[in-house]
Amino acid sequence: MSRKIWVFDTTLRDGEQVPGAKLNVYEKLEVAKQLKKLKVDMIEAGFPSSSTGDFNAVKEIAKRIGNTDDVIITALARAVKSDIDAVYNSVKYAKNPLIHIVLGTSDIHVEKKFGKSKNQILDIGVDAVKYAKTLLPEVQYSTEDASRADFEYLWKTIEAVVKAGATIINIPDTVGFAEPQEFGELIHKINDRLKNLNDRVLLSVHCHNDLGMATANTLAAIKNGAEKVECTINGIGERAGNASLEEVVMAVHTRSEIYQAFTNINTKEIMNTSRMVSGFMGLDVQVNKAITGENAFAHSSGIHQDGLIKSRNTYEIIDPVTVGLDDMELILTARSGRHAVKTAFEKLGMNQFSDSEFEEIFVDFLELADAKKEVYNHDLYVMIENFYKKVK
Ligand code: KIV
Ligand code: ZN
Repeated sequence: MSRKIWVFDTTLRDGEQVPGAKLNVYEKLEVAKQLKKLKVDMIEAGFPSSSTGDFNAVKEIAKRIGNTDDVIITALARAVKSDIDAVYNSVKYAKNPLIHIVLGTSDIHVEKKFGKSKNQILDIGVDAVKYAKTLLPEVQYSTEDASRADFEYLWKTIEAVVKAGATIINIPDTVGFAEPQEFGELIHKINDRLKNLNDRVLLSVHCHNDLGMATANTLAAIKNGAEKVECTINGIGERAGNASLEEVVMAVHTRSEIYQAFTNINTKEIMNTSRMVSGFMGLDVQVNKAITGENAFAHSSGIHQDGLIKSRNTYEIIDPVTVGLDDMELILTARSGRHAVKTAFEKLGMNQFSDSEFEEIFVDFLELADAKKEVYNHDLYVMIENFYKKVK
């Protein structure tokens, strides 16, 4: 039987931790709006205790994007009261808010980072969950650096925080150390033990890409019982990044007979989302990146082109239309006219401006088109961003 895999997007939190990728509130709202169009189940909107700006951005996302039932809005807290309060006070405006708490579980984290004993850390985690539960019913607990933790201590932590009320248990491979077979076995073992608990919790994973295995580890976890995956658009995130949402989703979609699973993702919005995130954050997507790279669906060798003309599936395992590649890219020039430019903005979900605002934007467009000759979607994002900076 096919099961649903919940998709938790952390582009605005783990992804935004990339140096130089900071977004302003306007950009964060646009990304969150696009993530909702992509139909992610959960949006991690930020780390509200880190700055007033981040707190306000999470609050605005909770109010404006989290105002419907189809998405859960969350944000990250360390296991301290002030962080949990900041998360609560920013996500509480959403219809479905969730508090996300993180605390280390490996010996390295417990001893070196916190300088405490395992029992002390366990108590801190349990108290944090108990406190969060007085504020909201939904609480996720992330056992940071779980893939390098002593298994029995990791399990003791999981058991204790579930008893304290955690509703989602997230198993992070924080430093991208795990290997797919090993990570799959870890998830299998946890899943087996969770079945024996009375409380029903969602089992989640969060994989980093330090050894280039974030997607493989996430998929191994799905095969072994994980029900929720944490990802980012274009795989951006700390250091080598996180599991890439588009890779995990398209693997499940393309090989559903193996994973016996599906996601809610509207795959046709993948390219739009990828380009928006890349444009706003100023992070180019590697040309040969799976699914969203410029060459992912380009065929250059004569033998391949010949095969494709005979039958597309000779060298194509995904129809590019499925990820929104067809008809989305309108290459605009100075001669494109108002209608084409307006249509291009609408295709990107940017149609919120008045007629007089559009006239001003069109003047900016002509200036850019004269200078650049060809205007792409990512230029349109930047243009809108500059326009709003000007009128603010
Ligand atoms: O990598 C990590 O462990 C995290 C946690 C907050 C889930 O980002
Ligand atoms: Zn992370």
